[in-house]
Amino acid sequence: MSLNNIEEIANYIVSDGKGILAADESNPTCGKRFDSIGVESTEENRRDYREMLFRSKGIKGNIGGVILFDETIRQSSDDGTLLRDIISNQGALPGIKVDKGLQPIDGCPGETVTVGLEGLNERLNEYSSMGAKFTKWRAVINIGDGIPTDKCIDANMEALADYAKCAQDNGMVPIVEPEVLMDGDHSIDECYAASVRSLKSLFEHLNNKDVNIKGTLLKPNMVTSGKGSSNQAGIDEVAKKTLDCLISNVPTELPGITFLSGGQSDVMATAHLDAMNKIGGFSWKLSFSYGRALQAPALKAWGGKAENIFISQDELSHRSEMNKLASLGQWEENLEDR
Ligand code: 13P
Repeated sequence: MSLNNIEEIANYIVSDGKGILAADESNPTCGKRFDSIGVESTEENRRDYREMLFRSKGIKGNIGGVILFDETIRQSSDDGTLLRDIISNQGALPGIKVDKGLQPIDGCPGETVTVGLEGLNERLNEYSSMGAKFTKWRAVINIGDGIPTDKCIDANMEALADYAKCAQDNGMVPIVEPEVLMDGDHSIDECYAASVRSLKSLFEHLNNKDVNIKGTLLKPNMVTSGKGSSNQAGIDEVAKKTLDCLISNVPTELPGITFLSGGQSDVMATAHLDAMNKIGGFSWKLSFSYGRALQAPALKAWGGKAENIFISQDELSHRSEMNKLASLGQWEENLEDR
């Protein structure tokens, strides 16, 4: 595969309905996922699990990029193959999470800013030399009493823009992820308002820092009701409000929008994506960058046992195929009956 610049890389990742497998859980987050299946989160177990995912047949043709955590980009399988080479051999590009997590903001209770700009250039340089083609930085916006504040949104979106510029200067595509969390009992309209404010601020900052939008991917939340809300918006409303929010705030020259799943069930994340693509009327590719919504069935089927590898891989392959169809607006619910 010869991709000569960040614009070609960004376009490749979302070409032909392909999307992204987010496998960049930090060790504590991976620990939580493994706890749910009673598996200890050791370096070796994390490697075995991810190697299994990356070797799944359904990566080929459905997944254009895989986001890794620092530990994984350095790991090799028992036969000595680097995990990142397994990914490339499947026709997917290796990417890397480069932020350093969340820190509370002084004077803004309940809010955080994502850190990691210090030493970023050096880290990016190393990741690029290891073959990483794209990068990810996640900002978190909470909805609650009096939040998000402008201060929180501005600090997070400015850091995202600084990171994006630095990634592009190192020849890698930045995925900018402003995640408005589903946690809470807020309405879909409150999610809409917080998402609009975040996206407006983000694209202003990207513009101010001269980030090349054609070499950038956006990883947003969908506009949904809060998880704890008793009035859950249906698929059509989520699809329409998400599209409305994006069409009004995202420049048309952006090559792709790859949603996070954010705690939606695996099939619901697929159904929402499909509904938006069936509506259409936008210029960017509308695709996925799911963590839980791609991995959950595979994780459960694996249960830490080598004898379950094939059924687990089959689960990941299935979700990858379903989400590719959803990115093309060609998914149907009955395809889930297997
Ligand atoms: P989820 O799809 O599980 O939300 O994870 C995506 C991700 O990469 C969050 O940063």
